[in-house]
Amino acid sequence: MELPIEARKRISAAKRVAVLTGAGISAASGIPTFRGSGGLWNGFRPEELATPQAYAQNPQKVWEWYAWRYAQVMQANPNRAHRLLAQLERQKRDGFLLVTQNVDGLHARAGSVRMVELHGSIGRARCEVCSTHFPLPDPAVFVPPPQCPACSARARPDVVWFGERLPKGAFERAEAAFSRAEVALVVGTSAQVEPAASLGRVAGWAGAYLIEVNPDRTPLTPHADLHLPLEAVEGLEALLGPP
Ligand code: OAD
Repeated sequence: MELPIEARKRISAAKRVAVLTGAGISAASGIPTFRGSGGLWNGFRPEELATPQAYAQNPQKVWEWYAWRYAQVMQANPNRAHRLLAQLERQKRDGFLLVTQNVDGLHARAGSVRMVELHGSIGRARCEVCSTHFPLPDPAVFVPPPQCPACSARARPDVVWFGERLPKGAFERAEAAFSRAEVALVVGTSAQVEPAASLGRVAGWAGAYLIEVNPDRTPLTPHADLHLPLEAVEGLEALLGPP
């Protein structure tokens, strides 16, 4: 494949880079996406598993689904795409922010630090009474639901469900980075869930060079300066890998 020379130059010259990732970046690690063939939302109904109402009605069922996914992500490993973004962060330092919709923790395990997890983390729980956040035990010994270590009340998954607010300050931090970025890179998201989906458009309107890596077209594609119709590993290798 021919290297995207213009995009590579822009990335290399930029002082401020913002990146948004979605489920597609973890596909090569064996984690299913949500939409599309083989997506989680084909086999499960989001309204029965990923809403506050579903949890109020059947907390055990919701916890069992999250515990299953937690075990799945703990068995997976970060892939080359996660690692290339961690490497880009080390080059750009405080001019870099990675915003992810993923709850799988694979970016952190690949070494990313300057990061906003917009939808929370599947490896953590949050107390329903005192809001203490705490990591889940090893999946091999984890039996849901967990109890808060501070007050012993039941805790819920520390993820954002449909109809809920994002963690405090998370979107503001993401939006600030995208509105100031010289290059914005959007990888492996269907760009259908707001407000995350708006970040790419915000960057484009503010004058950033907007790059999308996704084998399919999305609602963001018409706004992109460059759409690489590739999987995340291939696309990021072309943009960030050795020439
Ligand atoms: P989706 O499942 O909606 O979209 C995944 C995107 O990744 C699609 O556009 C695919 O074309 C693309 N894709 C598939 N394989 C890929 C690969 N190997 N490399 C690159 N791209 C690939 O996932 P998200 O956009 O992340 O929210 O979904 C957003 C939110 O919807 C999730 O965070 C979750 C879900 O409901 C909550 O749970 C709150």
